[in-house]
Amino acid sequence: MDFDETVLFLQDYSWIFNFKVTEILSKTTLQNIPYQWFQYLKDTNIDEFNKTFVYTTEGKFADEYKKSIAIVEQNFIQQFKFRLNKIKMKNKEFKFDSSNDKENPSLWKGHSEKKIHEVRRFTQFIDNKLLKTEDLCIVDIGSGLGYLDEKLLSYGFDVIGIECNEAFHKSAIQRHKKESEGMNNSVTMKHLHMNFSFQPDCVKAVEKSISDEKDGCLVALHACGDLTNQIIKTFIHSEKIRSLAVVSCCYHKMNSNDFPISQKLKEASVELNVNYFNHFFLRLGANEPLSRWMKMSDIEHIEHSNNVLFRSVLEMYSKQVGLELKKKRRKATKKSEIKDFVGYVDNLENIYDLSFTEQEKMHLQSIYETKRYLHKFVENLTGLQFLVQQVIEQLILADRKAYIEEQMNQIYCDSEHECDIELVYIFDDVISPRNTVIYASKNSKR
Ligand SMILES: C[S@@+](CC[C@H](N)C(=O)[O-])C[C@H]1O[C@@H](n2cnc3c(N)ncnc32)[C@H](O)[C@@H]1O
Repeated sequence: MDFDETVLFLQDYSWIFNFKVTEILSKTTLQNIPYQWFQYLKDTNIDEFNKTFVYTTEGKFADEYKKSIAIVEQNFIQQFKFRLNKIKMKNKEFKFDSSNDKENPSLWKGHSEKKIHEVRRFTQFIDNKLLKTEDLCIVDIGSGLGYLDEKLLSYGFDVIGIECNEAFHKSAIQRHKKESEGMNNSVTMKHLHMNFSFQPDCVKAVEKSISDEKDGCLVALHACGDLTNQIIKTFIHSEKIRSLAVVSCCYHKMNSNDFPISQKLKEASVELNVNYFNHFFLRLGANEPLSRWMKMSDIEHIEHSNNVLFRSVLEMYSKQVGLELKKKRRKATKKSEIKDFVGYVDNLENIYDLSFTEQEKMHLQSIYETKRYLHKFVENLTGLQFLVQQVIEQLILADRKAYIEEQMNQIYCDSEHECDIELVYIFDDVISPRNTVIYASKNSKR
């Protein structure tokens, strides 16, 4: 990935994401949007937007689109698409072979399609990648209820599950007891209750739990926040750990000093004066992917734009009158049940700890009347966010990959290590949005 081009692209288009969603109507947010873009976004319907940006950039309907257009795209649109296409990466895709999957039907009872999809694929990916020898032990960090561990066990791996949540840890032990009843397993399973980090005592405890004659492989399925970076650092520095396969999630839960971590991206961001590596940026990186936007129906678009616009009007109102919005602890009304702004206002007393007089309701309505022309704008801007989401996520993952490369080169430059590092799509992102695995392996010539 070209860090300079990507960072510059995100800098030039930071007006797409660098704000709190409820402040989409604030003066600062609107002032940052180039005039031509603002005019375009507020006047274009979703079908037209999708034809222009989504179907062409995604290629699926590209030919049909090209044939049908007599449209001359405006310069600023062409520029955006050109730059987006230039920086977009396509990772390798893992081909899952269902005929080769080892079923354990009792494991799947009552599970979501998403969990089954993830566990089956991730296990087969690990199995294909690692040389399955008796010398290997897999350490699953953030193992949750232990589904992946059971599956790995059925593939013949020794497994250690590490989980910080005591209830999950206990459930995983119980599940394993049930699953292994009457079985004569040649492989072993351990569960450790531990809040894992790259601290000497944690690393030592993990190393100690792997028997002397075995090497360790660290895996994690949806490691949140900065857990991925802790795992990566352990892989780099521990001689006992030979490989790593991590699927990350919740980038916005990282500490601010965990992104960027590679020298390469740090330097690019200093040189280009980047000021947008913040919560909004990481939050968008962890949002749903473009495939979700492509599946949205007309009704879902209307409900979404209502939801965002109505909430932003409330934000404006509360700022004007100095109102603090405290949510009640109860389930909000479904988006689909809110048909218009009047219905939204009537429902507010159910959601927030407040009540409105008729006059206050009229005040809210009057703000909405001045903003209602922005429905298309809100939805199209969301569409641009979906397009930028993939770039942000790729940058976060490419930063982690670059960090592994840099550290491995620095630490092991004189030794006999070679390191394979890859980013691979392993899940269908419609089913599981965080679908990219960071895989690395120290191929020593020892
Ligand atoms: C998103 S869940 C994924 C669970 C499991 N891997 C799965 O896919 O079903 C993340 C899990 O990691 C655990 N976790 C988070 N930080 C951890 C840490 N530092 N050490 C151990 N477990 C951790 C959480 O308690 C949670 O169970």
